[in-house]
Amino acid sequence: MTADFTSTALTLAAVPVCSVITLSTTRGMRYLLAASDQRPVIRAAWRIRRTWRRTAMRVGLAHTEPIKPHAPVGTPGSGRRTLVPAIRVHRETWGVRIDAYTVGRLGVEEFEAAADHLANAWRVPLVRVEQHRPGVVRIRALLRDPLTQPTTFTEQAAGEGDPLLWVPGIDADGQPVTLRSSGVSGVVVAGLAGYGKTSLLNARFCALAPSPAVQFVLIDGKGGPDYDELFARAWLHAKDDLEQVSDILATIHRLMTQRQKAIRSALGVKNMWHLGPSATWPLVVVVVDEAHTFFNESKGGDAQSKRRDALAREIVRLVEELVRKGRNVGIQVVLATQKATGDAIPTKIRDNCQVAISFAQRTSEAATAALGSDISEHPHAHPRRLQDAAYIGVASMVAEGRPGFTLVRTPYVADQDAERIAAATAHLVTDPLALLAGHPTAA
Ligand SMILES: Nc1ncnc2c1ncn2[C@@H]1O[C@H](COP(=O)(O)OP(=O)(O)O)[C@@H](O)[C@H]1O
Ligand SMILES: [Mg+2]
Repeated sequence: MTADFTSTALTLAAVPVCSVITLSTTRGMRYLLAASDQRPVIRAAWRIRRTWRRTAMRVGLAHTEPIKPHAPVGTPGSGRRTLVPAIRVHRETWGVRIDAYTVGRLGVEEFEAAADHLANAWRVPLVRVEQHRPGVVRIRALLRDPLTQPTTFTEQAAGEGDPLLWVPGIDADGQPVTLRSSGVSGVVVAGLAGYGKTSLLNARFCALAPSPAVQFVLIDGKGGPDYDELFARAWLHAKDDLEQVSDILATIHRLMTQRQKAIRSALGVKNMWHLGPSATWPLVVVVVDEAHTFFNESKGGDAQSKRRDALAREIVRLVEELVRKGRNVGIQVVLATQKATGDAIPTKIRDNCQVAISFAQRTSEAATAALGSDISEHPHAHPRRLQDAAYIGVASMVAEGRPGFTLVRTPYVADQDAERIAAATAHLVTDPLALLAGHPTAA
């Protein structure tokens, strides 16, 4: 198929807009009638169409082949021809959508690799690429990145208390993104300080708090006032006191073993997720913010350091077991940390977590520690890209039903909203251990 996209666009780039408009009445009218924030999009669409063949060849999105593959060299018609992918150009609110029809060995990977060069050629801040369907690569030239538009938390958007649903936010096209929650026993939320980890945890709390099928354990390694008002809706809570945290984790561990013994008689199944959580067998969400606070050993020689190190080792052991064995009985540990490298979160904990989320990261190593090595193959969803302040509240994650990694704009949760929801739902707190009474939990 021929690749030459014959653009009927006018010679625009170098001439003032007014002279362009006189050149084409319909286009000119459309341009004049467009809202002022849409005019740059229209101009970019024109420019992209008009310069496509030249741009494609310059950024390496061209395929050459012999015109007559079997003709002897030197005979008439034995030369080579250059094909560039045909495109269709559409305008969208945030920029221009280009569907490119693959040709030869030019596929989504080659377009990904050329994305930054396309952004330069088109003079747009961002170009995103995805495989739309077999044979079609979808390119978005974004004049403004929709991910940089902050949003705020609303109960409806968050899934209205359904513990099986986790909607952490919206994607770059404004579409809701879902994360796996069912059958998940471990979640890691990583990212530089001040980029939205605690806000994400608050959003999850606010979404689940109205459900009687969820109980919370809130542990704040920062030790500040962040969670004070939320404690009202928590079965157990602690700040950065290692002894207290170790005791709380031991209690959750006891719940896990007792639930393991009781599950068959209480629920008639071996896996709580087959039925889903309920008020009598609630999902227990254990939030540990600034989790690295609890895992590090100081290796000091004095008695106090030894005591702290023993507690840290015990906390690591308990969290590791909860993440590894808590799934079937409905215990979900959510760990937030600035760094997800092995020195901050033991790898035997981190690597057993089924869900990973990363806000901005400074280095590839930190991003790989949080999201796994596959992230290096998805440069446009890479957490290093998120270091600009405009991306506070944006995180990279593997979303349900989507290939690769997705960048998600998470909503900001105002303190007063979280406090209001915690106070209004405080009456739902119950002790999940007490709910097991009457079932065979004795050793
Ligand atoms: N989703 C968001 N959207 C917009 N701003 C946010 C968002 N999340 C956080 N912020 C801003 O960033 C600040 C730090 O957020 P926080 O969640 O405490 O970060 P972290 O826990 O990663 O250190 C907040 O006080 C708020 O001003
Ligand atoms: Mg925080």
